[in-house]
Amino acid sequence: MSNLIKIFDTTLRDGEQAPGCSMNENEKLKVALNLEKLGVNIIEAGFPIASEGDFNSVKLIAKNIKDCEVAGLSRANLKDIDRAWEAIKDAANPRIHTFIATSNIHLKYKLKKTKEEVLSIIKTSVSHSAKYTNNVEFSCEDATRTDLDFLYQSIKVAIKAGATTINIPDTVGYSVPSEFGGIIKKLYQNVDEVSSVTLSVHCHNDLGLAVANSLAAIHEGARQVECTINGLGERAGNASLEELVMALKVRNDLNPFITKLDTKQIYPCSKLVSSVTGVSVQPNKAIVGANAFAHEAGIHQDGVLKQSTTYEIMDPSEVGIPSNHIVLGKHSGRHAFKDRLNQFGYELSDENFQIAFVKFKELCDKKKYIFDEDIFSLINEEFMRLSDFYQLESVECSSGTEVKPRATIVVNVDGELIEAEESGAGPMDSVFKAISKVVGITPILDSYSVASVTEGMDAQAEVSVSIKHDDFFARGKGANTDVIVASAKAFINALNNLRWRKNHPKIASTKGV
Ligand code: KIV
Ligand code: ZN
Repeated sequence: MSNLIKIFDTTLRDGEQAPGCSMNENEKLKVALNLEKLGVNIIEAGFPIASEGDFNSVKLIAKNIKDCEVAGLSRANLKDIDRAWEAIKDAANPRIHTFIATSNIHLKYKLKKTKEEVLSIIKTSVSHSAKYTNNVEFSCEDATRTDLDFLYQSIKVAIKAGATTINIPDTVGYSVPSEFGGIIKKLYQNVDEVSSVTLSVHCHNDLGLAVANSLAAIHEGARQVECTINGLGERAGNASLEELVMALKVRNDLNPFITKLDTKQIYPCSKLVSSVTGVSVQPNKAIVGANAFAHEAGIHQDGVLKQSTTYEIMDPSEVGIPSNHIVLGKHSGRHAFKDRLNQFGYELSDENFQIAFVKFKELCDKKKYIFDEDIFSLINEEFMRLSDFYQLESVECSSGTEVKPRATIVVNVDGELIEAEESGAGPMDSVFKAISKVVGITPILDSYSVASVTEGMDAQAEVSVSIKHDDFFARGKGANTDVIVASAKAFINALNNLRWRKNHPKIASTKGV
């Protein structure tokens, strides 16, 4: 058996199912292009039947991605499968991923179907998919709570009908490594047909064991792992791609398996996903968290300075984390700036490069030292997001111990400049009220947080907000050396996301079979 592990990235499908993580077509394409650069084997681009927006983005990704397989998810019915195929058929290597639940609990309460009926649905849906392509993946949803005998039967039927990948999801993140590895082992022992297909696993993180369960499965013969950037996904998320891939790389002595990923692209990819979804990475997150390579205790700092391997099990540069040295400053020219962008893998058109350079110079005027992190923030904010309907034109604000907080704001609303003035409990309240006045809705501010992009008193503030309106939820981010401007940008970014979400309501959910 080969020791190559295929990485199936589902950030754009399961990751997008996380609350407030919706991305628009352009954002999804940018993430997909970065995943291609990262070297994942399969990109699950979305769930085409779910909405027009999902369909269009899967189609766009299918047309533009050349070096990865592109998968479209579908429930196990002919209409879903036809729609999925319609969306992915132009891909260089399209894959239909169809699924149905197999556990007793799902059969009884959700599907209200007998085992015989489910077997018949598997046969019909997989053979229908196989008429379109010989690249068909079948998933037994809630496999870890499925009777083993029925799991065997379902898999046999799916393989006989033409499935070439069989996926075993721990849908509710209930399993533990010994049990999950045991299930994979038993599948090889009891279902001969499994040796003729790729066995895949898809673990959720409800008990924090998604990566550990995936590793256990690999040791028992799974050769595809489904995961997401930053561990995004339903509820507690999916197995985190960066953790799994680095566990294989760093502990290759105990995990003698390989992936074809360029691990240096992990960090830029993580940053991009965080920027377009507005979901910050928790500081202590393994591999990509802000503290993953920070050493606070004096004794640790001393050790790392003497020899980094005393407290560092991998070199941050292996995952593309910038060394945080001063890269550029006021006197740096176009050439140096372009070189730095190329090092990060950003390839901008001439026009976008000009825009980026102007923004860079503006930042140099405000900030003495420009760190790599500033460049990530600038590029992600400027080019990796929605083409905005609302854009901040200007903000002016007064506040202090002796003045009533007040803000004047000018927003470009689809080409028209609209101004509003408001006062509130504090500067942010005033700014958010003025923006709300311009856009004509007053969302609830669900959360607001500020982090500094780099060290230093003149560091950029990165503001994250989440807002709610009419049962819709959206997040936004904004960065600037001025925290008021960063807040206004974040709020406007959230409003753009909210607007997009309202225009693209899901008409189905993956769990709503
Ligand atoms: O968690 C799950 O079971 C899924 C399937 C659709 C593969 O996401
Ligand atoms: Zn899932």
